[in-house]
Amino acid sequence: MSTGDPGCTATSQIHAGYEPQAPYRPIAVPIYQTAAYEFPDYASARRMFALEEPGFTYSRTGNPTVAVLENRIAALDGGVGALATATGQAAVAVALLSLVRGGQHIVASSKLYGGTVDLLTDTFADFGIEVSFADPADPGAWRAVVRPTTRAFLTESIGNPLATLQDLPAIATAAHDAGVPLVVDNTLATPALYRPLDHGADVVVYSATKFLGGHGTTLAGAVVDGGRFDFAAYPDKWPQITRPKRRYGGAILWERHGHGAYLALARSKYLHDLGPSLAPASAAQILQGLETLDIRVARHGQNTREVIQFLAGHPAVAAVHHPSTPGHPQAELLARDFPAGAGSVFSFDLAADQEHVGPFIDRLRLFKLVANVGDTRSLVAHPASMTHCRLSPEQRAGAGITGSTIRLSVGLEAAADLVADLDLALAPLAGVAEPTGGPLAAVGHAGTGA
Ligand SMILES: Cc1ncc(COP(=O)(O)O)c(C=O)c1O
Repeated sequence: MSTGDPGCTATSQIHAGYEPQAPYRPIAVPIYQTAAYEFPDYASARRMFALEEPGFTYSRTGNPTVAVLENRIAALDGGVGALATATGQAAVAVALLSLVRGGQHIVASSKLYGGTVDLLTDTFADFGIEVSFADPADPGAWRAVVRPTTRAFLTESIGNPLATLQDLPAIATAAHDAGVPLVVDNTLATPALYRPLDHGADVVVYSATKFLGGHGTTLAGAVVDGGRFDFAAYPDKWPQITRPKRRYGGAILWERHGHGAYLALARSKYLHDLGPSLAPASAAQILQGLETLDIRVARHGQNTREVIQFLAGHPAVAAVHHPSTPGHPQAELLARDFPAGAGSVFSFDLAADQEHVGPFIDRLRLFKLVANVGDTRSLVAHPASMTHCRLSPEQRAGAGITGSTIRLSVGLEAAADLVADLDLALAPLAGVAEPTGGPLAAVGHAGTGA
C-alpha cells in the first residue's frame, strides 16, 4: 500500500538496502554492535584511510546496520545516497555546514522548527554564518535577500508548527538561479506523503526521531542527497568540493566521487570531525519503524481529518492551521503536491487568552504534553513556551505563532477517543471564548502569513 507517492513503496520500506547474507541469512537487519573493523591487511587499511577504497573503518563514519538505514531512506526519497546522524538536529547542522562556512550566508524559511532557528541564529551566528529569513509563501522574497555569499536555501516541506506549505519548485528555481542548492527538511511529511527531490530540492534532511521511527523511542536523523546539484558549474563557490584538498591527499572530491561528492564531504569531514554518529541499535529501531511507515502515516492522516473537523466547528477555537481546512490559502498547493494529505502535525488557536492555555492543556488526558511529534501517541505542545520559546517576539509573529497557539501531533489511537479528549478539555472554554461567528470557514486562518 502506498499513501500516494509511487516512489514510496511498501516494498522499499521493508526491503531496500538489505539482502540477508550467508551463513545465517538473518531476515531482520543484524545489529553490528562494533566500534571498529579489522582490516584485511596493512595495504587495505592505507587505501581505506586515504578514501581510495570503500569500506568500514570505524563506526563514527560508517557501520553496516546504519548503512542499511541510509540506503533505505535514500531509496524511499529517490536520492543517490544518505548519511544517518544521531539526531535530526545533527542532520540539519551537517547538511548546512557541508555547504556554508563563516562569512557566508543562508536564506531560510521564516516558518521553521524552533530548534533549527536556534541553530541558525545562535550557534551558526557564533561561527560567522549569517541568515536571512524569507516568507515561504513568497518565492520573490527569497530572491530579494540573496547575497553573493549565499550558499544554501533551507525550508521545511510541511512547516512546524503551522503545517505551512509552499510552492517548492518556485523556491528551488530561485535557489538554482542564485547558484545554490535547496535543502528541505521533510520531517513532518516523510516520503510517504512527499518527496522533495521530485519537486526541485537538492538535499533532504530528517529528524528520523519522528515519523520514520514512529514509536517515540529513538533519536536519529538523516541527510539525503539528490545528487543533481552541479557543484562543478560554480567551482569558485565550492572549493571544499571542486579544489584539491590536503586532507584527501590533494584529491578533488568532485573528481573522485562525482555527484556523490557532497555526501562524501559530509561523512569524511563533518561526521568524522564532529562525531554526531548514529548508534547501530538506534538504526535498527528506526529500520523497524520504517517498515510500517505508509500504513502509520495513512492512519495518522485519517485521525487528523476527524480531529480537524471537530476543532473547526468548535466555538472555543479561533483558527485551525492546516491546509485541509476550508478556504485555507494553501489549499491549491495541497491539492497539487500533497494528494495524500499534509500530515498530522498542525496547530490551532484557542479563542481565549494565553492564561487559558495551561488549564486547557492540563485538562487533556489522552493528548500527552510532550516536546515531540510523530509518535504513535497523540501529543500536545505550546510552541510559544516550549519548542519556539527562544524565538524573538518578531520571529514568533513571523512564524504565525501566538500565545494561544496549541500544537497537536495526532497519533494512532481511536479518533473518537481523541475527539472526546479535546471536547472535554475545550468545554469550559466555550463560555470564555471570544465569539467566532460560527464555523471555521468564516473565521479565517490567522497567522498563516499567506
Ligand atoms: C522539523 C524538525 N526538524 C528537525 C528537528 C530536530 O530533530 P531531533 O529532535 O531529532 O534532533 C525537529 C525536532 O522536533 C523537527 O521537528
